[in-house]
Amino acid sequence: MGLDDFKENQEVKTIDTSRKLRVGIIGCGWIAGSHIKSYLKQPDVEIVAGADLIPGKAKAFFEKYGVENVKTDYASHKEMLDDQSLKLDAVSICTYNRQHAGPAIYALEKGVNVLLEKPFTVTLEEAADVCRAEKKSGKILSIGFQPRMDENMKMIKRIVESGELGKIYYIQTGGGRRRGIPTPYGTTFIENETAGLGALGDIGCYSLDMVLNAIGYPKPLTVSGYKSAFFGTDPNYSNYKKTGHPEYAAKFGVDDFAAAFVRLEGGIILDFRIAWAMNLDTPGDTIIMGTKGSLRIPSTECWNGTVGGAMTLYHEVCGEQTQTEIPILKTKGELFDLKIRTFLDAIKENGTAPVPSSQILLNQAIIDGIAKSAECGREVEIKIPKI
Ligand SMILES: NC(=O)c1ccc[n+]([C@@H]2O[C@H](COP(=O)([O-])OP(=O)(O)OC[C@H]3O[C@@H](n4cnc5c(N)ncnc54)[C@H](O)[C@@H]3O)[C@@H](O)[C@H]2O)c1
Repeated sequence: MGLDDFKENQEVKTIDTSRKLRVGIIGCGWIAGSHIKSYLKQPDVEIVAGADLIPGKAKAFFEKYGVENVKTDYASHKEMLDDQSLKLDAVSICTYNRQHAGPAIYALEKGVNVLLEKPFTVTLEEAADVCRAEKKSGKILSIGFQPRMDENMKMIKRIVESGELGKIYYIQTGGGRRRGIPTPYGTTFIENETAGLGALGDIGCYSLDMVLNAIGYPKPLTVSGYKSAFFGTDPNYSNYKKTGHPEYAAKFGVDDFAAAFVRLEGGIILDFRIAWAMNLDTPGDTIIMGTKGSLRIPSTECWNGTVGGAMTLYHEVCGEQTQTEIPILKTKGELFDLKIRTFLDAIKENGTAPVPSSQILLNQAIIDGIAKSAECGREVEIKIPKI
């Protein structure tokens, strides 16, 4: 045994380049830029096609990233997916929320593996339809939750699964931004026709996944939800003023704040709130309370679904109350690259989706329940559709 045997395992997985995966991108806007940058780092990927509803946008997108020989002369995702000559293995769907379900279903029906951006869909019914298409196709569908790749997120799950917390009975999750309505590239995030959901879907899905993934995604049973849009609909909202876009207020058709009280299977209560804008620094840390211990996960200043600092485990040792700091762990590699790589590996190894739709369906069920409860002003039952 040599001294090197004590070193941290530095093993890097080698990528088999003998089989190249043929990839297309549907929707060539802001987030597609992160997808293409990560695909370009993969030695076993050929980017062969791209489509956008806006004429010329896909062509300009690939030129910007210096990618040649990409077919882009398609008027919609359908035309691209109908082009048999492409022999697509996979697509990244980077369209706005209202255009998640349609392209995902169409791609799966064409036998193409799908990496679908978050949130899964706008409604629970749409998510169920995508799951059914996935089941029928036998292809891989992974939902684009890159925070899942973070070692700190994995640590939360490890702590829960270790039993250190005992039986979990109460969870508080969510996050917020003081002024963070996402309009740097236009209004697709804030218009009902394109986004369908505001902070609730955009960043709420991450807060829910942070805790639900850790506790094994129990089924949601009932929800009492609230949503509002006081900042987004105000032409005097400071960021609209700063960027010279007071007209965005009239276009704002989604929520900028949501809150909910959710009952989960197993007698667990989930207390949730999320904000794109608020007059507050943070709506609080995420906490997971258990009969043996509780975990505090600090929030971030501008919520994006990640762990904001060292976590604290509150527990007893020999009958004495104590607390243990869980230091921030370093993730090897960029989260976005890992999101893309794990998707590609699942395709090549006939594996399972890194972020499976069967879990995110339950995440979507809560989001959908909050929206429906807020609209009717009372608690609603959550019924998970049969897939
Ligand atoms: N994972 C992340 O960190 C992250 C970050 C930002 C956005 N997103 C998600 O990515 C999605 C897109 O966001 P964005 O900021 O890139 O939006 P965007 O408006 O900049 O880009 C979306 C593009 O999709 C195109 N499009 C819509 N429907 C289409 C269709 N059927 N066929 C072809 N093109 C179509 C639009 O014309 C537009 O160019 C959203 O759902 C958002 O929630 C994820």
